[in-house]
Order: sequence, then C-alpha cells, then structure tokens
Amino acid sequence: MANSFASKNFTALSDLHPNMANLKIIGIVIGKTDVKGFPDRKNIGSERYTFSFTIRDSPAHFVNVSSWGSEDYIRPLSENFKVGECVIIENPLIQRKETEREEKFSPATPSNWKLLLSESHSMVKVCSPYEVDTKLLSLIHLPVKESRDYYSLTDIVANGHNLDGRIINVLAAVRSVGEPKYFTTSDRRKGQRCEVKLFDETEPSFTMTCWDNESILLAQSWMARETVIFASDVRINFNKFQNCMAATVISKTIITTNPDARRWHWIPWDWSYSWCEPPCGFQEPNLDTPEANILLNYIRENKETNVADEIDSYLKESINVNTIVDVYTVEQLKVKALRSEGKADPFYGILYAYISTLNIDDETTKVVRNRCSSCGYIVNEASNTCTICNKDSSRLKSVFLSFDLLVDLTDHTGTLHSCSLTGSIAEETLGCTTNEFLAMTNEQRTKLKWQFLLERSKIYLKLISSHRARAGLKVSILSCKLADPTEASRNLAGQGHT
Ligand SMILES: *[C@@H]1O[C@H](CO)[C@@H](O)[C@H](O)[C@H]1NC(C)=O
Repeated sequence: MANSFASKNFTALSDLHPNMANLKIIGIVIGKTDVKGFPDRKNIGSERYTFSFTIRDSPAHFVNVSSWGSEDYIRPLSENFKVGECVIIENPLIQRKETEREEKFSPATPSNWKLLLSESHSMVKVCSPYEVDTKLLSLIHLPVKESRDYYSLTDIVANGHNLDGRIINVLAAVRSVGEPKYFTTSDRRKGQRCEVKLFDETEPSFTMTCWDNESILLAQSWMARETVIFASDVRINFNKFQNCMAATVISKTIITTNPDARRWHWIPWDWSYSWCEPPCGFQEPNLDTPEANILLNYIRENKETNVADEIDSYLKESINVNTIVDVYTVEQLKVKALRSEGKADPFYGILYAYISTLNIDDETTKVVRNRCSSCGYIVNEASNTCTICNKDSSRLKSVFLSFDLLVDLTDHTGTLHSCSLTGSIAEETLGCTTNEFLAMTNEQRTKLKWQFLLERSKIYLKLISSHRARAGLKVSILSCKLADPTEASRNLAGQGHT
C-alpha cells in the first residue's frame, strides 16, 4: 500500500476486511478513553470493564479499537500504553461499524471497521519508539480533520449561543493548564477535572475542560504559551455561571498536540463527505502556510512582545504618514525584513500595490468587532467584557465597534499576506463607518470590495520584522488611498530601497 507505513509483516488499516486470519497490525495511539466498569447482566453482582482507543497507520486511516473483560484483564492492558505510543495488535476481531450510533460516542473514523480485542485471542504489544518508522510516529502531529475544518476561538465567541451544544473542531494555543482536581460524586463515584485555558490572536482566554484521566494526562504534557492544539469534536456550551462560551473534551474528541502544518494539507481527502480509495480527490500540497503555523508564530511572538505593548501601540498609533517617504516593492520589504531580523524596532514604508484579498462580503469572516474603550483590546463577544481591563466583570467598561480586517497586498513582485487594517484607518480606506458598513447588504459590500480589488493603491505601512511571523513580517496599514496613476508609475519605474 503506497499510502501506508506498515511493512509487509503488518496488514495496513486500509486493507482490513472481516474474516482475516492471523491479523497483525501496527499503529500509533491517537486517542484513548478511561477504563469504565459496568454491572455484568449475565453475572449478577460482578462488573465488566471496558476501554477503547484509536490507532492510525497512515494519514488517512485510523480505526477504533475496544476491549471488554474482567478488571484484571482491562486495567493492566489500558495502563500499558498512552496516547502517542505505538502498538502492535495481533488477532483482533474485525467488525463492521454501526456508523451513526457509534460515532455519537466515539471518534468518527474513516474506516468501515472497528476492532475488538478479546482476552483469549488478541495480543497487544507496545513498541519502543526506536523500533518504529519515524513516519508512523509523525502521524501523532497530523490532525484527523481537514486543515480548514475548524473554528477559531474568535469564531466560537462570535457565533455565541448558536454553537451551544454543538460538536466542532477547534484550533487554538494553550495559555495554561490547571492542576487536576479529584473528587467523589454524591453517588460515590470518583471523578476528576482539569481546566485548560486556550487563546488565539483575538481571544485572550477560553476554557476547555477535561473530565477524564486520559485527556488530563495529555493536557499535563502541554506547555503554556508554546503548545498549539487541534481538538477535533469537542463540545461547545454556553457557561451560564461565567457568562461565556466554553469547550468540553468528550469521548469522541481526539486532540492533536502541535499539529504539523507542513504535512497537514497532505490529508488526501475529506472522508467525512465521501469514502473512496486513494488517490481519488487527492489534493496537491498548498504552499501557503496553513493556519496552525500562523497561530504558532503568533504565540511565540507574543511571548516576547507582551500584550501590554500591543495595546499601547494600538492607542498611540499616531505616526504622521507624511514623514514616511521610502518606497518599496513587496519583494524589497521581504528582503528588508530578513536583513533586520531580530530587531524589534518597526520600520515604515510606502507600497504601490493592489489589495488582492478583502473579505468584507463573506459571511463567515468577522469584519467588525467590539474593542474595549479603555485599552483598545478586542473584547470577548459573549460576555462583552474586556479580559485585560475587566478582571472584575461587574464593572462593565464601555466598548466600541471597530473594523478588524486582514488584507493581502500584491504588486508585480509578490504578495504580503494578512496585513492588518483596523479602526479609523479602515473606515477612511473603505469610506464608511462601521455602522454604515453593518447596515449594508451583502451585494453592497461586494460592490464596495470591487472598488479596491485590483485598483492600485498608495499604502503606508508599519512593519515589524520577526522571523517567526508569516513571511517574516507583521504588517499594519497606516493609510491606504487609490494611487495617482502617474505618481505610481513613476515610482514603479525606478528606485526602491533595499
Ligand atoms: C483517574 O485517576 C485518579 C488518580 O490517579 C484515580 O483515583 C481514578 O480512579 C482514575 N479514574 C479512572 C476512571 O481511571
């Protein structure tokens, strides 16, 4: 199998079918549940135990394995390995999956089959990482969903109550991992709980709760402000006590720690819509840096430049653009960024370019957000409070609406991605206030967009070099006006700075 890392000694998960004898498979454990006990109906007074896990042997193939038996069999079996380790399974039973019913409680798997371990026939051996192919080990960093199939925290907060009770995928960075708390319920069952705080570019804090030992164990391995997670199938709820949206890890959830953005786009197809054998629907790698890398860059950068600085600069962004005279091309800006790598000082420049991406008529992109009047930071939309100023949420500070756009700028030498266009600069550029914009129909917004797309503009930029930001640069637009054609061509014909 071209798509599998299993050697000839092992059957690839893609080749599974029932009634296979002497089956031997290898895979990396990507998800695992806690052991649970149930009263045994056939044997009144005793209990049966179960746990399950999910193994993967190639980007597109993973399967759910479950095991039932006595406590003496199940507990040691479960304690033997954890998420991230590779196991060899011999002689499991192959059963057809009852998709709908089972996927309510277990990870959705592309395979039509599930595996059952039996105490008398099956064997599970844990492999040392030195014994297995690194390709197999690297699958742990490959999310189980398509690279664009997720919500950012901002999307979740923006959707508010609409997402209450929904099961979705989330990409976010880890802000902190709480201490696990152990308790006993009123019916004397043991329980545990661990709160993880997540964040991303616009949401400074978002709670995700783990209720099982396996996910708590995984969470304990995460590093605050270092780790990015892709959590597939977490449940979103509105938390009435804290008046905000929150996520819960459930038995379906599979969490990928530090998703490998370089390989992520290699997931060959979206099996949630159709099932087919490779290479159908195979996607060519998309050379753009996927979102996980941008997020990773963002958190790493913010370890150095702290949030307070960002807020200060937001409020004090009062540079007189007339003092900026240096004209660059996109390519020259990128070169300059490389050369000034490591220097924290911003530099300024003029670019004659087209706005090549302007998402103002796309309903899935949020264009206008609430900012806190006292610090300028984007406020949490569900609670409408600023997490920076309002430690005490009873003292509501006022908020104001502000454009918050990321645009791409293109000239004949290349494209600067994700340049921020916010606040009054965005109002001036678009020629309307946020309220006027919100009152527009989608058609009007599309019309507005086309006034800018592919029209050459004279754009004043503030650039902060950072080898970790996308393309090495963090770019803010200070002014953007349609360019005078003669002035633009005079500048394009000549000079430029390097
Ligand atoms: C979870 O871990 C705690 C502490 O190690 C233990 O007391 C408890 O029984 C575990 N629960 C499950 C379901 O394994």
